[in-house]
Amino acid sequence: MPDALKDPRIDRVLTRLVEQGVVASADGATVVELSGGVSADVFALTVGGRHLVVKWALPRLRVAQEWLSSPTRIVVEADATSYARTVRPENAPEIVDVDDLNLVIVMTAAAPEMGNWKSALLDGTVDPEVGRSLGSALADWHSVSSSDPDAFRRFGDRRYFVELRVAPFFKRVGEVHRDLEEVIDRVVDRMTERSICLVHGDFSPKNVLVSEGSFWVLDWEIAHIGDPTFDLAFLVSHLVCKAIHRPAEAHLYEACARSFLDAYAERSILGADQNDLVPQAACLLLARVDGKSPVDYFDAGQARQTRSLGRRLLADRATDFAALWHPLEG
Ligand SMILES: Nc1ncnc2c1ncn2[C@@H]1O[C@H](COP(=O)(O)OP(=O)(O)O)[C@@H](O)[C@H]1O
Ligand SMILES: [Mg+2]
Repeated sequence: MPDALKDPRIDRVLTRLVEQGVVASADGATVVELSGGVSADVFALTVGGRHLVVKWALPRLRVAQEWLSSPTRIVVEADATSYARTVRPENAPEIVDVDDLNLVIVMTAAAPEMGNWKSALLDGTVDPEVGRSLGSALADWHSVSSSDPDAFRRFGDRRYFVELRVAPFFKRVGEVHRDLEEVIDRVVDRMTERSICLVHGDFSPKNVLVSEGSFWVLDWEIAHIGDPTFDLAFLVSHLVCKAIHRPAEAHLYEACARSFLDAYAERSILGADQNDLVPQAACLLLARVDGKSPVDYFDAGQARQTRSLGRRLLADRATDFAALWHPLEG
């Protein structure tokens, strides 16, 4: 796309890729901007026969409310993506360059047949096998890192998790729902007390690319040593939102969440805290309607339903997985 090619940042990346020996020449490069994320500028770059993706983290996220986070997190993303590949080489892109001065990273692009899982889910294509595969992969990432001192040294800084998750998703929701603030604060206390393993921090369908029999997990910028339950609750809360959005298929999203959790439990050496899965998911549901990154596919009724579900789960101190899907039966 000529416009993206004129972006001086792309020019700098191309010069650097040649300098670093990633490609022999920048001649004939093509660039297309990729959409989908709110926290970065992402471009698909084809050059020298290589299909690459270039990513800059934004200092101010592309949402209506002000939401700031240092773009230095892009360096964490590169490091965590590389770590993820050492554990599961098939399930994350390869990082081919990290420019920690200009804060831009370059990785391999997914094969063109890999599609975004969020789009598939929203179209009603709900394959529980994808849930199973993600549960197994997440169990490996959590389990291996839990006994790896190198992971603890590299990913011990929780700054970005606080800026991008604890503050906007939990604390903000406590401010909006003052009557539940104490309950929410206790959920946060228990979550932040745990330093158990490498946690992805944004384990959402929009960060999963899938095709027949293979998948990648992207976007490791909030990776940190923390509470494994958070990744489980995050993905489950996204599936609950999809179930509220498409009630006729709610049982499919629930089955997918179930196979995700079952596969995780079968393979993980860690006991993620079952008692905190539903409370964390409840906070995340409220965050998706009253936090800084609201769901982009809800109508007003679905937002209300999500809000009342999240509130009820917290008020009842619910811990039962089935309770997440209850309003859908009524
Ligand atoms: N390596 C990649 N290969 C193919 N597509 C990618 C790749 N990295 C990102 N994308 C696409 O770009 C979108 C945004 O990238 P992402 O890293 O998730 O940015 P953000 O941090 O803004 O969410 C992704 O949802 C995906 O569709
Ligand atoms: Mg993303």
